[in-house]
Amino acid sequence: MKFTGASLITAVLTICASLSVKASDIGTPKSVTYDGGIVMTGLVNIYFIFYGNWQDEHQVQLMDFVDSLSNTAWFNTLRLYNDRLGNNVTGPLYFAAAINDNYSHGRSLQGNATHIDIIEKAIESAYLGKGTDHAGIYFILAAEDVDEEGLCTKWCAYNSYTSDFVYAFIGHPNKCPQLCIPELNRNVSPNGDPALDATVNMIAHELVELMTDPHNDAWRVGNSTASEEISEWCMPPNATPEEWFGPNVQKLDSGASWNLQVNDTKWLIQSVWNPVAKKCVMSS
Ligand SMILES: *[C@@H]1O[C@H](CO)[C@@H](O)[C@H](O)[C@H]1NC(C)=O
Ligand SMILES: *[C@@H]1O[C@H](CO)[C@@H](O)[C@H](O)[C@H]1NC(C)=O
Ligand SMILES: *[C@@H]1O[C@H](CO)[C@@H](O)[C@H](O)[C@H]1NC(C)=O
Ligand SMILES: *[C@@H]1O[C@H](CO)[C@@H](O)[C@H](O)[C@H]1NC(C)=O
Ligand SMILES: *[C@@H]1O[C@H](CO)[C@@H](O)[C@H](O)[C@H]1NC(C)=O
Repeated sequence: MKFTGASLITAVLTICASLSVKASDIGTPKSVTYDGGIVMTGLVNIYFIFYGNWQDEHQVQLMDFVDSLSNTAWFNTLRLYNDRLGNNVTGPLYFAAAINDNYSHGRSLQGNATHIDIIEKAIESAYLGKGTDHAGIYFILAAEDVDEEGLCTKWCAYNSYTSDFVYAFIGHPNKCPQLCIPELNRNVSPNGDPALDATVNMIAHELVELMTDPHNDAWRVGNSTASEEISEWCMPPNATPEEWFGPNVQKLDSGASWNLQVNDTKWLIQSVWNPVAKKCVMSS
């Protein structure tokens, strides 16, 4: 559900060590569970709310990414998830609309009630189309000068839902690069801006979880007392660095790492748990 990165992971690993979790347990699911809820099937419209100042060029890169992501072999893994009625995730993803929110709720946001209000106001404005899209996904993308009480203390991004829509909040990775930007690309990244590149990775992470578990009652990994949505399974501390981005990470001349090309643009995107092969994969 929550995207957390490196520093927090160190803390979690330390705690695990004292509970004597063996290194060999990494990457071995306790269990992958399906609790009977729906997955997101058919065409899924994606909406972006750029909260605060964003460069136009970055907005276009983020929109192009989600608009083309379902054409990749990476997305095929999601198509292996189905629900009780046998309906699989299919895609495609379609980039429907974006809106700029000029700090309507200030620069210090406080919790999901505020996030939900931002989305509802955006929907009411009608710039995102007519009415609420119950089968779409709303993303709030926070600009660099936006604080959030949970950002960097609990997560870099998270997803959730209301009775009307599902959504994700993506914090700006420069708020805490150690936590939110993968070490491989913290200094140099394929598209020249480590925060932008890390944002795309977080969008992918949350998309996977929303498609396979939109209402927190479908696909999860864990055990009888604790479980998480599936993207958590393919990143540290649950996965090795190689499982996280797959075995075929390539380097540009600049030294930047990438592993997935989406409509001519190279990105570094985390792997996805394949429920049939039972491992983290970059393509299916
Ligand atoms: C793919 O890239 C081309 C060239 O950059 C662009 O014109 C096109 O709109 C992109 N397609 C999508 C679906 O983003
Ligand atoms: C739908 O999901 C099931 C269960 O993982 C899988 O066996 C099947 O191949 C999937 N169907 C398609 C068309 O991908
Ligand atoms: C955003 O709001 C500020 C005042 O709060 C204003 O100065 C600025 O022009 C606004 N920007 C846009 C793009 O509307
Ligand atoms: C809002 O956040 C709280 C605490 O993080 C959580 O318990 C609650 O389920 C969330 N509600 C929604 C609608 O996301
Ligand atoms: C389930 O996993 C959590 C977190 O890893 C652990 O603290 C807990 O002891 C586990 N419970 C069982 C019943 O294995």
